[in-house]
Amino acid sequence: MLASLLESRRFVIAPSLMCADLLDLGAELRRVETAGADAVHVDVMDGRFVPGFTFGADAVARVKAATSLPVCVHLMLETPEPHLAAFLAAGADELIVHVEAACDAVRCAETIRTAGAVPGIALRPGTALEVLEEVLPFVQRVLVMTVAPGFAGQPLILRALDKAERLVQRLRSLGRDDVAVVVDGGVKPSNVGAIAARGVHGAVAGTGIFGAPGAAANIARMRDQLERVACSPGSAVVA
Ligand code: DX5
Ligand code: ZN
Repeated sequence: MLASLLESRRFVIAPSLMCADLLDLGAELRRVETAGADAVHVDVMDGRFVPGFTFGADAVARVKAATSLPVCVHLMLETPEPHLAAFLAAGADELIVHVEAACDAVRCAETIRTAGAVPGIALRPGTALEVLEEVLPFVQRVLVMTVAPGFAGQPLILRALDKAERLVQRLRSLGRDDVAVVVDGGVKPSNVGAIAARGVHGAVAGTGIFGAPGAAANIARMRDQLERVACSPGSAVVA
């Protein structure tokens, strides 16, 4: 799925379910699927790496059973190692650990790949790209946080977007066209075009998709903005 998305050059839109209407999650999943989302993003928090708590492995299994979209699980867990097996068994198609939180990020990636899922690595806005050097050969997804992890509804940090763009360029220079760079946080219909113009492969959006006027309209507006950028590359400005 990831490989075919990269080949198609389609910008990946992944709604973050922590911002969906949790009392109506089945309908929200159907809505984003019909509207043309490419994956669903499940944020997992442990109250330590980040202050809050969200979904666990049981919730991931329920989401997986309710959608045909790939389920991407973002682990915001201090020491994720003991929890990988549960999320893989729950059906995570992509499993992402934080480089700042893993004891051994390379080993995590190998465990995820061996289980048949796509291994990914995430980094906080304040973490330098150099930290990824040794793990990059083992992952196919880099999630560049464009807000501080743990909370939805924050404004996008431009410096983090610059970093995502530098990573795209570095991966190109390495010939790594199997790695998708996805930004997470602060993405809205009004800035997704400018983000795509930086060359990143996709974006996670919570408030920007599930906020008013609702997921279907927001995803349609995002696709519209993305088409405009495709027509006139370089013209977009982050708002
Ligand atoms: C934050 C999460 C994000 C969050 C994004 O820790 O990783 O996925 O849901 O929410 P918005 O799009 O509102 O910034
Ligand atoms: Zn996330």
